[in-house]
Amino acid sequence: MSFENILCEVTDGVAVVTVNRPDKLNALNRATTGELDTCFASLAEDAATRVVVLRGAGEKAFVAGADIGEMADMKADEAESFARKGQAMLNRIENLGKPVIAAVGGFALGGGCELAMACSFRYAADNAKLGLPETGLGLIPGFGGTQRLPRLVGKGRALELVLTGGMISAKEAAEMGLVNKVFSQEDLMPAVMKVAAALAHKSSFTLRMALQAVGEGLEMTQDSGFHLEAALFGVCGSSEAAREGCTAFVEKRKPDFKNP
Ligand code: COA
Repeated sequence: MSFENILCEVTDGVAVVTVNRPDKLNALNRATTGELDTCFASLAEDAATRVVVLRGAGEKAFVAGADIGEMADMKADEAESFARKGQAMLNRIENLGKPVIAAVGGFALGGGCELAMACSFRYAADNAKLGLPETGLGLIPGFGGTQRLPRLVGKGRALELVLTGGMISAKEAAEMGLVNKVFSQEDLMPAVMKVAAALAHKSSFTLRMALQAVGEGLEMTQDSGFHLEAALFGVCGSSEAAREGCTAFVEKRKPDFKNP
C-alpha cells in the first residue's frame, strides 16, 4: 500500500504502520487520518496480516496530536464531524479483530494519546510523554479520549489528566496502566516486534475471539459478559485451532496453527 503521510509494510504476518510526518511530530492532519482509516480498512481484509504494529516516524514523537492548525475557527457542526471522523478511525483500529500494538516513543499527545489508547496494548520508550492537552486549547479530547482513558486508568486519574492537560512520563503512564511496559529507546522496537511475531504464530481465529470477548464484554454487564465468554469459548473449543493446540500439548510439541 502506498500513501503520502504513512508507511505500511507487511512481513511474516506483521504489518508495521508508521505515521510519517516527523517534521510535524507526526500530527494527524485530515489527510493522515484518512490514510490511516484506509490503511486499517485494508489490513482488516488482508489475510496475510495477523498482527499490526503502529508507531511514529523519528525519535521525537509517536503522534503529537490532531493538527492544531486545522482546528482553529471550526463551526460547531464542523468540529463535531471532525471528532466523529477521528472516532470512526480509532474505532476501526480498536475493532480490527487483530492485535494492534502501539510502539510509543516520544510525544503521544491529544489525538496521538487517543490513537495509542485505541490499540490493543501499548509499549513505550523511556522518552515517551503522554497526555491530553486539549483543555489548554479550549477543547476537550474528541477522538475517544474521554471514554477510553477512564476505562484504562479509572475516573479519578483520567479526570486529572483531562482537566489539567498535563503530560506524564512513560514510567508514570506504566504505573497507572496507560502503557503496559517501558523500554529504552533502542530496545522498544525489537521488544514490540518480538511480541508481534509471537502473536503472529498463534491462531488468528483464537486471537479474534479473545479480542471480541474482552472488547464487547467491557460494554456489557458482567453477567452478560460471562454469557458472551462462554459462547465464544464454545466456538473456540470446537475449532481446528483448539484441536491443534491441545493435541500439540499432549504430544509435547509446538502447535502449528494453520493461518491463511
Ligand atoms: N498540530 C500541528 N502541528 C504540530 C503539532 C500539532 N498537534 N504538534 C507539533 N506540531 C508541529 C509544530 O508546529 C512544528 O512545526 P513547524 O516546525 O512548522 O513550526 C513542528 O511540529 C515541531 O514542533 P515544535 O513545537 O517546534 O517542537 P517542540 O519540541 O518545541 O515541542 C511539543 C513539542 C509536542 C511540546 C509541541 O509541539 C506541542 O505542544 N504540540 C502540540 C501538542 C498538542 O497540544 N496536541 C494536542 C492537539 S489536540
